Amino acid sequence: MTSALCPGSFDPPTNGHIDVLKRCADVFDQVVVGVVKNPAKTSMFSAEDRVSMLTDSLAGIENIRIVSFEGLLVDFARSVGTDVLVKGLRALGDFDYELQMAQMNHRLADFDTLFIATDPNYGYVSSSLVKEVAKFGGSVESLVPPMVARALKERTSDG
Ligand code: PNS
Repeated sequence: MTSALCPGSFDPPTNGHIDVLKRCADVFDQVVVGVVKNPAKTSMFSAEDRVSMLTDSLAGIENIRIVSFEGLLVDFARSVGTDVLVKGLRALGDFDYELQMAQMNHRLADFDTLFIATDPNYGYVSSSLVKEVAKFGGSVESLVPPMVARALKERTSDG
């Protein structure tokens, strides 16, 4: 049985993330989505909120499990017993940092990282841009799952 761990901040999950996670679930028997809980980083949504947004958006896909984690990714990867790490790659801008992390994770614990090319329809979509657009009242309905769009509206509206 093959397994993959897809780690990320997912603050919040976008349609680009969801597409990559679904395609990963088509390739591997078991997929764990690891939502990082980083106390040093300010996130808009708590890890619990991000897990529930992913759970809602990926409902019905039997071989995906969503879990939050703290600490080193490789330690979490060992604890779930995954074969490989999988990340989505949008454009060249992502590549430098992703390569650095992949090489560090390999050095730390021999984990290989595989990359899935993001659907070009979502190539420009990032969690940070989505938050910024929502903050200034722009429409993000076509960029994020419905539950995320609602949550962003609640978080960013004045009333
Ligand atoms: O969605 P992101 O922000 O690109 O995800 C980054 C993530 C969660 C993969 C990375 O920050 C991470 O692995 N954090 C856990 C701490 C860790 O292991 N850091 C060293 C990475 S080489």
